Amino acid sequence: MGLNIGVVGATGAVGRKILDILLERKLDIEELHCFASERTAGEKLDWNGRLVVVELLTEEAMKQPFDYILFSAGGDISLKYAPIAQEAGNTVIDNSSQWRMTDGIPLIVPEVNGHTLRNYQGIIANPNCSTIQMVMALAPLHRIYKMNRIVVSTYQAVSGSGHKAIVELEKQMKDPEYPAQVYPKRIAANCIPHIDVFNENGFTKEELKMVYETHKILSDDSIAINATTVRVPVFYGHSESVTVTFESAPRLMEVKELLRSEPGVVLMDDADNLEYPTPLEIAGTDDTYVGRIRKDLYDPCTLSMWIVADNLRKGAATNAVQIIEKMEELKNQ
Ligand code: A2P
Repeated sequence: MGLNIGVVGATGAVGRKILDILLERKLDIEELHCFASERTAGEKLDWNGRLVVVELLTEEAMKQPFDYILFSAGGDISLKYAPIAQEAGNTVIDNSSQWRMTDGIPLIVPEVNGHTLRNYQGIIANPNCSTIQMVMALAPLHRIYKMNRIVVSTYQAVSGSGHKAIVELEKQMKDPEYPAQVYPKRIAANCIPHIDVFNENGFTKEELKMVYETHKILSDDSIAINATTVRVPVFYGHSESVTVTFESAPRLMEVKELLRSEPGVVLMDDADNLEYPTPLEIAGTDDTYVGRIRKDLYDPCTLSMWIVADNLRKGAATNAVQIIEKMEELKNQ
């Protein structure tokens, strides 16, 4: 028997990617149900040659039995409908930030802490896109050298704000008068150091997500993390400039070897041959790419690096589908 899978928000930027990735990764799926709002309910989606009718999201629909139901329709929808699906006995994988910091709800990057899902049933939270790629690159180093402090600046693609933001950048690139609607300022030919709302401490919610989600995934809240998150006029792929200080001084060759052998991480670090990742080059792939690794000029325990991943794939849809794969692997062990 194949899996019975539900996708809430199936017509959105991440939802569509989830449908692609379910196919690409060849999950054995018997039934697929796509849910969205009244705006698109009734439309037909072509999925692997099958026409899947978009169903209206309702409480009743969430009470049906699913093996996995993936949510990607925003925090309010997850808040209302994920508990209904969970109470009906379904395993929910939620891409919103709604449940990430809730005690008892696992926050999962499968390669890093997927093993904690053994025998779990309920809501599982998919972390923030910027957190996922940073943790992918730093977790293998943390295991060996123990991180004390991370300073990160992000360069985040507009697709992270959904389909309407992709359209806004496209339109503004052609028309200098096209108004800013999704973002507080024009995004074309610009950088906006403001993602999500400002907190009273001066950081944005996106920046604080990177702090607290990293602590939860690594089960270590002793790491001092300082983030600046910036929206840039890139369609797909988030980049991060990361400076990290460890308890013990890492050897550069050993760091590269650790990253080279880490599943899901690709080392792209040969400056002489212009080998370093850029979002345009890695978009459409599922790995996390690391380059520009260098030792600090003053502190032997500090390294800087450049981390890039496709925010809709590893930063969202791929990670969610990998959670299904991990759950299935654990069940079959
Ligand atoms: P719809 O396409 O019917 O509006 P994005 O992040 O790209 O903006 O996509 C958001 C996704 O969440 C879309 O699939 C959208 O469906 C879905 N969505 C938004 N609001 C609701 C709602 N009230 N009920 C169900 N799905 C919703």
